[in-house]
Amino acid sequence: MRETKILLTGATGQLGGELLNQLERSGLRVSGFSHGELDITDEVEVDRCFARQAPNLVINCAAYARVDDAESEPSAAYSANVRGPGIIADWCRNHHAAMIHLSTDFVFDGLKTEPYLETDPVHPLSVYGKSKELGEKEIRKRLKEHLIIRTSWLYGTRGRNFVKTILALAMKNHPLKVVNDQFGCPTSAEDLAGAILRMVLRKDAYNDDTWGTYHYCGRGIVSWFQFAGEILDIVAREGRRKSPGLEPITTAEYPAKAGRPSFSALDCTKIGKAFGVETQPFEISLSRVVRKLLGEFNADQIP
Ligand SMILES: NC(=O)c1ccc[n+]([C@@H]2O[C@H](COP(=O)([O-])OP(=O)(O)OC[C@H]3O[C@@H](n4cnc5c(N)ncnc54)[C@H](OP(=O)(O)O)[C@@H]3O)[C@@H](O)[C@H]2O)c1
Repeated sequence: MRETKILLTGATGQLGGELLNQLERSGLRVSGFSHGELDITDEVEVDRCFARQAPNLVINCAAYARVDDAESEPSAAYSANVRGPGIIADWCRNHHAAMIHLSTDFVFDGLKTEPYLETDPVHPLSVYGKSKELGEKEIRKRLKEHLIIRTSWLYGTRGRNFVKTILALAMKNHPLKVVNDQFGCPTSAEDLAGAILRMVLRKDAYNDDTWGTYHYCGRGIVSWFQFAGEILDIVAREGRRKSPGLEPITTAEYPAKAGRPSFSALDCTKIGKAFGVETQPFEISLSRVVRKLLGEFNADQIP
């Protein structure tokens, strides 16, 4: 079996940074490229960079992931989320490489009342969700040897995310109003990176039956309000600050530019069966990230 040679795009993003760390620590051969070093929408640049690295596995963590901004910048979102993955998939097909790609719970409309299966019909409510859906299609059309992993409500110590926003406001004792009618599964970037690492290491499980689409998210379904409550409880348990007031509101009371599913929990049974990937209880992973952030930053300094 050939040694796995990995090329990772979007390597300084929230997930990309975490995954690069874990791949390197596990001793795998990996080269990571930030947006500044490699723009996945530039076919010539991709071709030049990939030819130099000659990977047999490309992991695409690059994406336009600013959900609300995508409504006013659709061409930037479609370029990064549709054209870029298509360019990568073409290169992989022409050079006998496999591709791992990330997608989102926002491909669903939220009308279901049980966790979404990989086979459920998609119906995105936003430009971002539509662009991710079309990105999935580009890959399926071009490359058999792919794993698309849909995840949800991602947070970690890197980048901008809900946990850091709530922590920063809590540290200023800012009263919080948080949406209580959208439900999903918070997912730690560290856990997701661990799941992808496991899939990379389980090359023996790659075959015509296992290529395809998977769901991976944290275990536990909550509203954003409940998620915020859990964050504040951890802060209080750490004795860092008296919790500010937390008030539930509706989506209608907090209008955002992009539509979001009111329920987008993902069923993760398939990834467990195919690759032995287990989901983690979200409270435990969240507590680890919050404690790390509280340890790293003083009050008012959470970026
Ligand atoms: N965040 C979530 O809640 C969430 C939920 C479900 C699924 N996902 C999916 O999970 C994946 C990882 O998300 P994330 O939260 O890690 O996103 P992120 O922190 O925004 O990271 C994405 C990275 O891609 C880079 N990038 C953007 N356009 C690029 C291009 N044309 N060429 C190369 N790099 C480019 C970004 O650089 P710049 O910042 O410089 O543009 C950034 O470093 C994405 O596929 C996302 O759609 C995320």
